[in-house]
Amino acid sequence: MMFENPVFMCIDAGGENCPCRLAESGNCIACGRLSGQDCSGCRWHGVCIYNEYIQGGKKIKNNREEKEVPIVEMEIYDEILYLGLNVGKGFAIKCYPAGTYVFLRSKDREQFYNVPISVMRADIEKGVIYLLVKCISSKTKALQDVKETVVIRGPYRNGVFGIDELYASLRDAEREGRRGKILAISRSVGIAPAEKLIQVFGNKHDITLMADLSNMRRGIIEKHLNEKPAAFSELDLTDEKNIKKIRDEIVGGRYDFIAVFTSDYYINLIGDLTEELNFRGRMAVSNNFNICCGEGICGACSVAGKNGETLKMCKCRLSGEESIKRKVIYK
Ligand code: FES
Repeated sequence: MMFENPVFMCIDAGGENCPCRLAESGNCIACGRLSGQDCSGCRWHGVCIYNEYIQGGKKIKNNREEKEVPIVEMEIYDEILYLGLNVGKGFAIKCYPAGTYVFLRSKDREQFYNVPISVMRADIEKGVIYLLVKCISSKTKALQDVKETVVIRGPYRNGVFGIDELYASLRDAEREGRRGKILAISRSVGIAPAEKLIQVFGNKHDITLMADLSNMRRGIIEKHLNEKPAAFSELDLTDEKNIKKIRDEIVGGRYDFIAVFTSDYYINLIGDLTEELNFRGRMAVSNNFNICCGEGICGACSVAGKNGETLKMCKCRLSGEESIKRKVIYK
């Protein structure tokens, strides 16, 4: 399937992990000179990535390495695993931004058991991060057998598309001297990135959370959702009349922004709803592409660009709306 092809920026461009392996292999997303072209179409406004790469001796910067970390909390609720990991203060600080995820695996398993999991909350004081894992297949089920430690790699930043637009919307609200209004809609463990959003933005802005707990026991959220939204309601997204509830909330809520952390099916459904209602704000959505390496190397998350080129969705920085356009849904 081919897509129209706007220019994307890389989520890691100019950050502590840039230049990365893509620069080394001549496939940099942000830099023309590190992808076999020239500087003429450069849209990067930060420090020149090519210069950084050359000055740094053509070495990649701060390669994300695996490390074994102690499990300080662990509970299993049917197929949902709750984990608290002592990653240290430095790592926990890096896990603070919304949309952060890490790779996890049992130390007894091979590297291909690595699975990307959203950070639900980062306790910087304690140096602990908290996660929810839905254990439904080989990789995730294998995590239920971990005991004292787990192997972690990260943090990675592209777990949510549309974070830039979220910051812009909230800045606009602040400029107008008011609190921003965000509607977050989640299903099952999608409540984890919603909780992260509340941790990061909940102090200064009002976040209404509509959560479909799906297969999760209520006890999980009562015990482990520390960050409280401005308003919370539970709903079953499979029930048509609850889609009407969302419609009413969007119409009556005067929201600046909508964040959807669900499967692609509901992201599309809610995306269509916002279009139909002419929603004036912007959107963020969970990155549901098939992320495997997270480094832009393996190609698992690829979609084809207009000219047949490969776009890596673990690295490309999309808006929520752009991400919806790029989904390939089997019908
Ligand atoms: S997950 Fe490997 S290239 Fe994106």
